[in-house]
This record gives sequence, structure tokens and C-alpha cells, in this order.
Amino acid sequence: MPVAGPPAGRLLAAAGLIGGVPAVALLALLGFGWVEPLPGAVALLACIATAFVLARIWLGNLRRLGDALRRAAAGEADPREESGGILLPSVAAIADDMRRLARSVNERSDLVLRLRRADEAVVERLPDPLVVLDANGAALRANAAARALFGGAGGVGGLAAGGIGDLAALLRHPALAEALDAARAGAPAAVDVALPVPVARELKVHVIPMEPPLADGGRQVLVLSDRTRDRAVERMRADFVANASHELRTPLASVIGFIETLRGPARDDAEARDRFLGIMAEQSERMRRLIDDLLGLSRIETTEHQPPEGEVDLASLAAAEAAALAPILAARGARLETALEPGTVAAPADAEQLGQVLRNLLENAVRHGKEGGTVRLSVAPAAPDPRLPARPGAMLAVSDDGPGIARHHLPRLTERFYRVDRGRSRSSGGTGLGLAIVKHIVNRHRGHLLIESEEGAGATFRVWLPAERAAK
Ligand SMILES: Nc1ncnc2c1ncn2[C@@H]1O[C@H](COP(=O)(O)OP(=O)(O)O)[C@@H](O)[C@H]1O
Ligand SMILES: [Mg+2]
Repeated sequence: MPVAGPPAGRLLAAAGLIGGVPAVALLALLGFGWVEPLPGAVALLACIATAFVLARIWLGNLRRLGDALRRAAAGEADPREESGGILLPSVAAIADDMRRLARSVNERSDLVLRLRRADEAVVERLPDPLVVLDANGAALRANAAARALFGGAGGVGGLAAGGIGDLAALLRHPALAEALDAARAGAPAAVDVALPVPVARELKVHVIPMEPPLADGGRQVLVLSDRTRDRAVERMRADFVANASHELRTPLASVIGFIETLRGPARDDAEARDRFLGIMAEQSERMRRLIDDLLGLSRIETTEHQPPEGEVDLASLAAAEAAALAPILAARGARLETALEPGTVAAPADAEQLGQVLRNLLENAVRHGKEGGTVRLSVAPAAPDPRLPARPGAMLAVSDDGPGIARHHLPRLTERFYRVDRGRSRSSGGTGLGLAIVKHIVNRHRGHLLIESEEGAGATFRVWLPAERAAK
């Protein structure tokens, strides 16, 4: 092969390789006088000229092959042979083969690219949160569901920047570390992980080893499922039965106790009898309320998935409920102020159930509010609020100037039997089910319940309801 150099040098070298030996032989023949000078010189010239022509063609062919190879390597769609110049037959065949090879390599790399994109799109769009880990157990990427779960806005960038505090806590969790070790040995593993901060969460994590590794170097895929809600529902179900029995057992035990006393020691004590009968009536009434609320709650739950029908004039409904509140208002020395915008309508809505919502909220404001305080009730078409749907709606609000509710109680307030102050709630005649009923009714109406309160500064309960009048 000619040494690399400028084209003229290469040409000379190639020509030398091709015609060097015959030219030197001719020169020797001439030198020794074994050929006539003229024919000898002609032959020498012809030899040199042929050597240069062949060298040119040879170098040109090599260059074109080289170009075609480079273009194929660069992944050009069709490394077409430039025309012109003489092409040696075998070189032409090689160039053809090369074009075919380049085409199939290109098709294959296109396919690989498409498959990779499809893989990424599938992972990204899966509804289950997925996190891909590298060989060191660091997060490479998280799909959209995982980013939503961890509240991270960014993609891989956000991950690398540590934008998802929770994910880091998950990856450091000792239970997960064990599962990761097991997965490194090649066995899929699953663990339950409880993350206490910032929000208590219970996750089921499946660790799937990737052998061979993913295209981006991923060695393990974590499939997460958020069990927080399921576990809470399970616990709530179990608690509910226990709570309901407990709530009924207390008044029942008191009634049974007084019956025994009236049959025995207090048989002839008229004064005690009157007092005990009064307490028994109170306790029986408490059991009746509890059973009413339990039945109401289960009735509402069974219809929760079917939306209500009809229109409700909220202003007149609120006026009627406000009027019915007079006895408890008087008992607590409280005042009621109303601001009811006439013609405020909720639809689709159930008047009976919305009456129950109003009653429960008003009674809470009076019972849990300040003795001698002021309760405000307002009903109006809903103003735009980023927390609420942009659709037309109606808003009813009940607020009081009582002791309010500490912030950490707010999320649990609508759970059945959840009370801030158990003793106070019972003595004020509450069942602990009022807000659970409110929540279920609001859910059935596809509405929203907003609770705002600060300890010592009163509480405001707002209910947003859809107001979509049927098209006439
Ligand atoms: N307006 C309010 N002000 C202060 N606390 C309230 C108010 N409304 C409800 N609560 C708290 O929420 C708890 C749950 O309310 P609810 O479900 O209606 O049960 P209850 O039968 O006790 O009224 C109450 O026990 C009380 O602690
Ligand atoms: Mg109540």
C-alpha cells in the first residue's frame, strides 16, 4: 500500500508499485544495449504512462469504496455511488454489496430506535408508578405516575437534582434494601414499605431484576402501588364495627343499670325514679339517633354511585332549616345570621339530602361553636375558586365563632366517629357521624366540601354543589 501523503505523492507511489519493476528492467536492457534505443524508449514511456493511468484508476476506485463505506457507517439512508470515472468490475460488485449492507444496517438501527421509543412510551404511560434503577441502586428515571406519586415535576433531570425527597427516602428504606439485594441475585421480590414523612404512606414495592440490563443501563425496575388508601379503608371498616358497637353499648349499659336499680333498691323512691327515667329517656334517645344516623349513612352509601335528580332551591331550603334551628339556638343562647341569595339553585340535587347537610352543619356550628356565639349561614352562586371546578356551581357556607378545630384534625374530620373531643361531642348529643354523612351526600352530588378552621378562631364549612340546569 502506498504511504499516506498528498494525492500527487500517493499517485507516484502507486504508479511506482505498478510500473516500477518493468520500467527498471527496460532501463537495464537499454543500459546494457540489449534493445535498440528508440523502441526501448517508446516501451519505457508506454510502461510509465500505463502505470500512471492504472494508478489513477486504482486510487480513484479505492477512494470511492472508502467514501461509500464512510457514508454507510454514518448511517446515510442510501450511500449512492457517484457516477463518472472507470470502475473496476470487482470493485463495482463490492460497492453494490456495500450499499445493500448499509441499507439493511440502517433499517435495523431504525427498528431498534423505534422499539426503544415504544418501550419508553409504554413505561412512561403505564398507570402504575415505575422507577428504573442503575447497577448502584440509584434512580435513572421515573415514569409519569411515579413522578405524580412523589410530587416531582421534572423528569430524569428532576430526579438527578434530588427534586423528589420522598423517592430518596424510599430508596434508602432498609426493607427495600433487602429486596434489592434479593433482586440482584436474580429473584423478583416484593416488600411493604411505610414512609412516615412528609405524608404517611404505605407502598407495596415489586422489585424486578432486568437481565440483560435495559437500553439505558437500568438493572432493576421498581413497580410501586400506593396502598395508603386501601389500608385506611381496611382499618376504617374494622374500626367502624368496633366503634358502632361501643357507641351503642354505653347507653345500653346505662339503661340496663337503671332498670336494675329501679327494680331493686330504688323501687319505692319516687324522686329517684323520675330522675332515672329522665336519664333513661336521654340514653334511649341517644341510641335512636345513633341508629338513625347509621341507617342513614348506609342508605346514602348504597346510592352514592347514582347521581341525584332534580333541582333544589337552596335559598328556600336554607331558610326552612334555619327556622327549624330555633330550639337549639335558644338552648345555647346563640344567634343565627343568614345571607341567602334568592334563586340560588343546585342541580342535579336531592332536596332531602341537602336538607340533611344543612342541618348537620348548622347543628355542629351551634353545638361545637361558642355558647352565646354567632352562626352565619350563606347561600349564593359560587364565585370562581382555583380549588373548585370551573363549572357553574352553588356555594353554601356555615361558619361560627367558636373554639375552631386544630389543623391536624381537619383531614380526619369526616371519618365516622371521629371527634376532636369525644366527651364534649357525646354530652352535646352528637353521634360522631354527622360530617361523615355530609361528606357522602356531597360526594353523591359530585360536589366539594371545604373545611377551614384555626384553633380559637371559629370554623367555616363550605359546600360547593353543581348548578347545571337541564337544557330546556
Ligand atoms: N363547627 C365546629 N366547630 C368545632 N368543631 C367542630 C365543628 N363541627 C364539627 N366539629 C368537630 O368535628 C367532630 C365531628 O363532627 P360530627 O361528625 O358532626 O360529629 P358530632 O356528632 O360530634 O357533631 C365533632 O365531634 C367536633 O369535634
Ligand atoms: Mg354533628
